Amino acid sequence: MRIAIIGTGYVGLVTGACFADIGHRVICVDNNAEKVKLLRAGGIPIYEPGLEDLVARNVAARRLSFSDTVAEGVNQSEVVFIAVPTPPLPDGSVDLSFIEGVAREIAACMTSYKIVVDKSTVPVKTGEKVVETIRRYNQAKVEFDVVSNPEFLREGFAVEDLMRPDRIVIGVQSPRPVPAMREIYAPLEAPLVVTDINSAELIKHAANSFLALKISYINAISVICEAAGANVQEVANGIGLDQRIGRRFLDAGIGFGGSCFPKDLSAFIKIAEQLGYDFGLLKEVQRINQEQMQRFVRKLADTLWVIKDKRIGVLGLAFKQNTDDVRLSPAIALCEHLLREGARLRVHDPQAMEKAKTILPPGKTVAYVAERDAVAEGCDALVVATEWPEFKQLDLERARRSMTHPIMFDGRNLFDPQEMERLGWVYKSVGR
Ligand code: UDX
Repeated sequence: MRIAIIGTGYVGLVTGACFADIGHRVICVDNNAEKVKLLRAGGIPIYEPGLEDLVARNVAARRLSFSDTVAEGVNQSEVVFIAVPTPPLPDGSVDLSFIEGVAREIAACMTSYKIVVDKSTVPVKTGEKVVETIRRYNQAKVEFDVVSNPEFLREGFAVEDLMRPDRIVIGVQSPRPVPAMREIYAPLEAPLVVTDINSAELIKHAANSFLALKISYINAISVICEAAGANVQEVANGIGLDQRIGRRFLDAGIGFGGSCFPKDLSAFIKIAEQLGYDFGLLKEVQRINQEQMQRFVRKLADTLWVIKDKRIGVLGLAFKQNTDDVRLSPAIALCEHLLREGARLRVHDPQAMEKAKTILPPGKTVAYVAERDAVAEGCDALVVATEWPEFKQLDLERARRSMTHPIMFDGRNLFDPQEMERLGWVYKSVGR
């Protein structure tokens, strides 16, 4: 299949590289000429495990190429994917101007039947607008179909998620584009959900909101566990074995962040409001998430008493493991909070330090420490803010000896409380 992907951000680039690897001929288009130049030269603008090899291999096999003009992509392809950003507006609703702009550009250069697939996360009924827009701006009046095919990629596992999806959702207006969509995904052997466009669009927001709800639910349980002297991990294991519930996304901590969950929640609340429904349940999910962070900061203050002038080591800046992404990262929010209280920080992250420097500039109050095991040196407390698995390999003995007081606040429950106590730490975690 000949495929164009408009937008080489996170989703577009991963999708394009994976489709090429499956065997399709893919042209990835971006209006940022600098980015296209970088990609053509073999550079990758984001950190995502496995992506660099995938791109290099498929460029070498001539299945993957890059362009900065939409017309070039559209003319060479049967199927055109839209994978441009849908950022939030100040009121929480979604800015659809990039989607509209690309739909117009595609329409302007379409001279034969095309399947236009929306991969970006959009509010329900966006597909209808895309159909109207293409119809309006296509002078040649060629036939086309619009399809909704939402992505479910987790940062850090995006290649794996694309190649081994739980399901593939295809929203269509007519049966005509279905065989082509089946062909694109055929080698992946995943269940295909073929439905109408509105339902497909809703599936994306409903899925992400449900996952965020799961996290807030277990975080609420963690509060009860702390008050009652129970262990939230044991509770999560116990309820997670019920196949109707499942264990995943039941890890209590300092809350969720990133470029998807917070934005998708706000958007879904707004979409519901516009459709006449007050989605109070999801507002509560947001509230619990904010409160979880405040609770954690209070825990630090309760133990350290005065945070001002305390030296605090922070492990983790990314919004989760396996990524360099710091957008709406709970770890960064925590650092900002501690800085406001007057703390001095020594911070470390395996991937996200460069990006973090744009938000937390290095200086007198923030020192970036390249070596993980050196982050605790001279500190009054050590905080774990991101669930990087390698933090479990921290040299605990070295850290303990190098601190003024061996106190650890584990915001991601990475260590075993009994073991930490045995090793001489004052150890505080979440819901245990
Ligand atoms: C998410 C969805 O998982 C993906 O399907 C969607 O398409 C994009 O949004 P992503 O934002 O990359 O992916 O990260 P994810 O792994 O879902 O984690 C989101 C946040 O939740 C992180 O801050 C993480 O630390 C937090 N989290 C996750 C928890 O606090 N507890 C958990 O049990 C799981």
